Parts: sequence; C-alpha cells; structure tokens
Amino acid sequence: MSWAHARLPHDKRITMTYSLERLAGEIKQTLKADPGVSGKQKICDLVAEVLKDKAFVAKHLCARAPGADPREILYEDEELGFCICGHVYDGEAVGKPHDHGSSWAIYGQAEGETSMTDWETVEPGGPDRPALVEPSRTYLMRPGDVQLYDVGAVHSPHREKPVKLLRIEGQNLDKIQRSNIQRKK
Ligand SMILES: [Fe+2]
Repeated sequence: MSWAHARLPHDKRITMTYSLERLAGEIKQTLKADPGVSGKQKICDLVAEVLKDKAFVAKHLCARAPGADPREILYEDEELGFCICGHVYDGEAVGKPHDHGSSWAIYGQAEGETSMTDWETVEPGGPDRPALVEPSRTYLMRPGDVQLYDVGAVHSPHREKPVKLLRIEGQNLDKIQRSNIQRKK
C-alpha cells in the first residue's frame, strides 16, 4: 500500500476502472500474443479484475426490460472475432449439457450464483448420433469467479435466482453450431 493510498479513507481510494475499449484491447493483445490455453487463462485474470469494477458492472450489465433478450453483445472484434457479452437473467436460467462448437467461452460471474456441472464424454458422437455425456463435477460460481470452457468442454449451468454474467466468446456464439450432445441414460 502506498503512503497516499494508506491515508485516504476507503471510499476515496483511487481504484483502476475498466472501460469496454480497454478490456477489448487487452483481450486482443493477449490473444495475439498467445491464442492457446495459457492466453485464455490470462483473459480469465482480466475478467476477474473487471468483475471487481462495480462501475463497469453497473454500466454494462444492467437490468433488462421485461421480455428483453438477456444476452447483449457489448463488443465484437472485427479482426479476431472474439466477443464480449453481457448476460443478465431476471429469474431461473437452466441450461442442458452443451459445448460451444468450435469456439471457447469464458464465464465471469458478476452477480448471483451459478451451480455449474462439467460433463465427460463417455461415447463419442457420429454424423447421425449424439455424443453421450455423464456428469463429472458440480461447483458453485460466486461473484468474482471466472471459468474457461475451452473448445469441446461440456458444461451445464443451473441458476435459480437472477444473475449477471460477463462472458467472453472466442467467436460470436450466435453464429456457431453447437455439438449434438445428450446425457447418457
Ligand atoms: Fe455454455
């Protein structure tokens, strides 16, 4: 802690604030330097920092109008294709086991809680049959938690109450075909 920082009351301390442009620039720089798993983990660290910025969360993850799409693309990079998205759900949001096709995604929990289950593929799919999956672990994502779902990572979110998420997608997931996946019975 610096001398100046120590003498300021808590609410007067100067904190780093994020802009969308800064976050996009840092993600782009990171992916250009390292498009592999370690680069994506660095983006998880960036997202974790941004989630601490209450002004950023308040500005970009605001409540949706009744009936509006919970998903908003805040930024889409023309060159690399990655997206920064806000997902704001005002009630229960439960997803089936899925991956993100050829893309990866990073989920950052801004508000509320998500019970996330990871799934293991036990029978690979084919052109006319789904891949069969079984649950491998379930964990709670709380505000500030960030998780990478790399290409092919199967997961399912369970959210019973309102949540706000900051999500980074390798490619705009609106345009990506998801894999054919089913829970093994
Ligand atoms: Fe997902």
